[in-house]
Amino acid sequence: MNNNAFTNHQLNDTEAGELFSNKLLSEIRERFYYIDNDPHGGERLFFDNAGGSFRLKKALEEFARLDAIPDCPERPHNKALYLQKKQENGINDVKTIFNAKGGSVVTSLTASQAMFDMVRAISENIPGTNMVTTILEHPSAYDPMVYYSEKLNKELRVAASNPVTGGVDVDEVVKLIDKDTCLLSIMYASNITGAIIDVGNVIKKAREIKPDLYIVIDAVQHVPHDVIDLQKTPVDGINFAPYKFFGCRGSGIAYLSDRAARLPHHKLIAKEPYVWQLGSPAPAQYAVVSEIVNYVCWIGGKFKKSDDRRELFECGMKKIHLQERALMSRMLDGTDEISGLRKLDGVNVLLDYEDLTKRDFIISIGFNNIGYTQAMKEYEKRGVIVFVRLLSNPYSKRILESCNLNGAIRVSPLHCNSIEEIDRFLEITNEISQLSPS
Ligand SMILES: Cc1ncc(COP(=O)(O)O)c(C=O)c1O
Repeated sequence: MNNNAFTNHQLNDTEAGELFSNKLLSEIRERFYYIDNDPHGGERLFFDNAGGSFRLKKALEEFARLDAIPDCPERPHNKALYLQKKQENGINDVKTIFNAKGGSVVTSLTASQAMFDMVRAISENIPGTNMVTTILEHPSAYDPMVYYSEKLNKELRVAASNPVTGGVDVDEVVKLIDKDTCLLSIMYASNITGAIIDVGNVIKKAREIKPDLYIVIDAVQHVPHDVIDLQKTPVDGINFAPYKFFGCRGSGIAYLSDRAARLPHHKLIAKEPYVWQLGSPAPAQYAVVSEIVNYVCWIGGKFKKSDDRRELFECGMKKIHLQERALMSRMLDGTDEISGLRKLDGVNVLLDYEDLTKRDFIISIGFNNIGYTQAMKEYEKRGVIVFVRLLSNPYSKRILESCNLNGAIRVSPLHCNSIEEIDRFLEITNEISQLSPS
């Protein structure tokens, strides 16, 4: 049994989450590619959704259908107007995802590019002698803060993580903010620990110190797993990656507030001051966003009647979040028939913070008998895809060290997984824990 087990804690219903009905889950599973099989044949448990999620069939079909149309969307022909409409719908759907009003949408090839662009525009144009971020940030958000603070000769202040929760405490961030802070950049949830940061309170308390503080958020990890509402947590920039949100690779998207959109940035002279799009638009990429939103609204519509797209989307995301929490609870605590990770001998659940309402469905584990990389290979031999985070990897080192970890196997399933798959994973984990040490 591992040391972090919470054997005496009884979860109440909300904490424990809520599973979809079998009927809804099977309809959901029908909508995704490769849900239980390897693209090259055979069964597979794909538990690396934090590295790129299951793809919605409809998103890829719509992408291919629109991208097959040769017309330039910037023409007056009928087909071009049709493509323009798809783009307009996609932009509105980015705003549906964040419950954003006004502002501007930035698209690029990756979420990292969008983040570098946002940090550049704010740090170059907003006065202030310091910039604040956290040690948990993905390099795509951390590195632009380092780059522009050095280039512009501003002090970079980095909030420490909390090695118990795997997150960053609100006060650790807020104590670094002052009237001279030019920009705060903080992630919504960690792609390594799964911890959800209390971004709402960070924003509130930070703006009590500096009311007009510019804030950007990396939402790449959190947006596919929970509701984000910019009416409650207003920020100046927030990004996501469709390929981690049931869509496709090849685009990174950000939303900018009105005031951030109008800051000087790379822009074609003929365009309005708030426009961030550079060059030919790609309507197919926008259509993918609309398909993601259609899908989540479809789930929402199973629980709620409404004509309001955002209301349905919000309801769908809440249900996704509860399903994932229920699966996470089962993976950690098991059932009377099967031991959960917390009870498996020789398995260590890392950063096992008790309050599941503060966690996305990412679980970090290690084995007593074998190392992280070997364990990942043992999983693959048994048809399970998980990923390892290692000190040798620059994407993980800073974050692992801040949480006192020397590595972790990252397990990241998705709402469309079933309890049977969780149980299968537990059986395989038990089997791996009994291998002879190499
Ligand atoms: C939390 C987080 N932020 C940002 C990124 C960067 O996304 P992209 O590779 O699309 O630039 C990732 C990718 O792993 C991530 O997990």
